[in-house]
Amino acid sequence: MSSRFLNRNIFGDEKNKNNLMSIADAHALLQEWVPNERLRLHMRQVAANMKAWAIEKENEDEITAQKWELAGLLHDADWEKYPEQHCKVIVEELEKRNIDPDVIHCIASHGPAVFGVEPVSKMDKMIYAIDELSGLIHAYSLMREGKYEGMEVKGVKKRLKEKSFAAGVSREDIQDAITRANITLEELIQFIIDHQKNVN
Ligand SMILES: [Fe+2]
Repeated sequence: MSSRFLNRNIFGDEKNKNNLMSIADAHALLQEWVPNERLRLHMRQVAANMKAWAIEKENEDEITAQKWELAGLLHDADWEKYPEQHCKVIVEELEKRNIDPDVIHCIASHGPAVFGVEPVSKMDKMIYAIDELSGLIHAYSLMREGKYEGMEVKGVKKRLKEKSFAAGVSREDIQDAITRANITLEELIQFIIDHQKNVN
């Protein structure tokens, strides 16, 4: 059992439904909690992918898309300062701020093997699927001369097969996540290439 297990399945309070933090406040929290710009960029990339997926693939309204974006923006907010308590600290902070329970559950379930919380909603499943793959695709962009320019799905799949490339990215988790989300690997890779290339 991972030492980061959260040991519960209920997060936040239903009475706080649709109580969201503004995107500007979420960025301010990141500025304060995450000195590492590379990690902040990762969260901005995951947020951009999440928001775009909610709108383009799920036809969600503005409020719901903001939930997806917020979860993406904040999912690793405590990673740099509290690595041993990663997830627990940000989850408790958002509960203290009376943030929407769906957003908190999404963050709590972004790594089921690590935090012991099963993804339930489509938002939960998509952050799990996008998180690691987004990191691997960004790492791939950094070794390409044209960065995201001309990047193809097959190139990303090749990197996925090379175990030594971005070795910290769990291939098993990616496979598990896309199975749970009921999407194809190819669809998600193309979506991420298209939506995170202009995030800065
Ligand atoms: Fe992440």
